[in-house]
Amino acid sequence: MEGSCGDAWPKVHMFRHGESARDNDDKETGLMKTYVITGGTDGIGAALARTLFSRGDRAVLVGTSRKKGNQLVAEAALTPGSAAFVEADLSLVSNTRRTVDMLAEEYPAIDGVVLCARFMRSHRSVTAEGFEDNFALFYLSRLLMSYGLLGPLEKADQPVIVNVAGPGHDTPVAWDDLQSTRQYDLVHAMFMTGRLNDLLGVTFATRHGEGPVRYVLFHPDTTATSYAGEFDPQTAAYLQQQRMLAKPATHVVPPLLRLLDDPPTPPLSAFHLFAELNVHTKLFSAKDAERLSRLTDELLAKVSG
Ligand SMILES: NC(=O)c1ccc[n+]([C@@H]2O[C@H](COP(=O)([O-])OP(=O)(O)OC[C@H]3O[C@@H](n4cnc5c(N)ncnc54)[C@H](OP(=O)(O)O)[C@@H]3O)[C@@H](O)[C@H]2O)c1
Repeated sequence: MEGSCGDAWPKVHMFRHGESARDNDDKETGLMKTYVITGGTDGIGAALARTLFSRGDRAVLVGTSRKKGNQLVAEAALTPGSAAFVEADLSLVSNTRRTVDMLAEEYPAIDGVVLCARFMRSHRSVTAEGFEDNFALFYLSRLLMSYGLLGPLEKADQPVIVNVAGPGHDTPVAWDDLQSTRQYDLVHAMFMTGRLNDLLGVTFATRHGEGPVRYVLFHPDTTATSYAGEFDPQTAAYLQQQRMLAKPATHVVPPLLRLLDDPPTPPLSAFHLFAELNVHTKLFSAKDAERLSRLTDELLAKVSG
């Protein structure tokens, strides 16, 4: 089954195989839970998706690779659960907005949103909407997903958002250069955008902490994954070596499952695998979070669609 979200550019496609009336019945009786995973087509997201559909849940995967998405959907068809694939380039704000709308319409209740999409670049790149690529995908898409899916999340029993990044890093936020225009370095850009995700968590929890949705910042530590990206030869060689030494993505699934199955009590929490991190430090400053929120709103207001 294939559906699309309208004809205008940019396009977002949804592929759903292996879903049936039974899934809907299970959903209604609360047996099947629904989890949206951005970056669910590879690496940690895909490892989590496989575990979820293998135990009878529904995994909704967002990514750009139709081949990988359809492969996972086909795998899910042989399990007690199911999978759907949404093909979308989340580095575009307009695409992310459309994806959010589609997901909210398709899935009135969502038990968990796991944010894993990431694309690393050795060289700075700017999206068609004018944002630095990493800033757009690693931060803006996560913000839009978090707030945009709040309605369906609030309909679930124990809803949780897990933002998989690198919480607690002390890279300073360059307030006058959030998109690394002055000087771009892959690692620095990722660490700084990680800080933005920490502050996103602070703002989300401040605004919605009274509600049912828990916000969790999660650090998987070094893991052998696809390391999606475009790299100079030196970085490619380093990542190739890292891929051989690091733990497999399946090792990150148990601490993630624990958070999905039994979300922490505080509105905001952070974990490095199973270990809880302190979110009451200056790195999680409410004032900084508010400042970032204002700057982000201004940027997002400029994007139509
Ligand atoms: N691996 C590590 O050592 C490590 C360490 C610390 C933190 N993390 C965090 O863990 C999370 C998952 O990392 P990973 O290493 O498992 O990732 P990965 O294997 O590199 O996979 C990245 C995922 O993002 C998707 N993606 C890339 N560009 C996209 C775009 N423009 N729009 C939508 N989806 C896009 C890819 O899907 P397609 O291929 O379908 O596009 C893929 O599913 C990331 O947030 C990362 O920051 C990882």
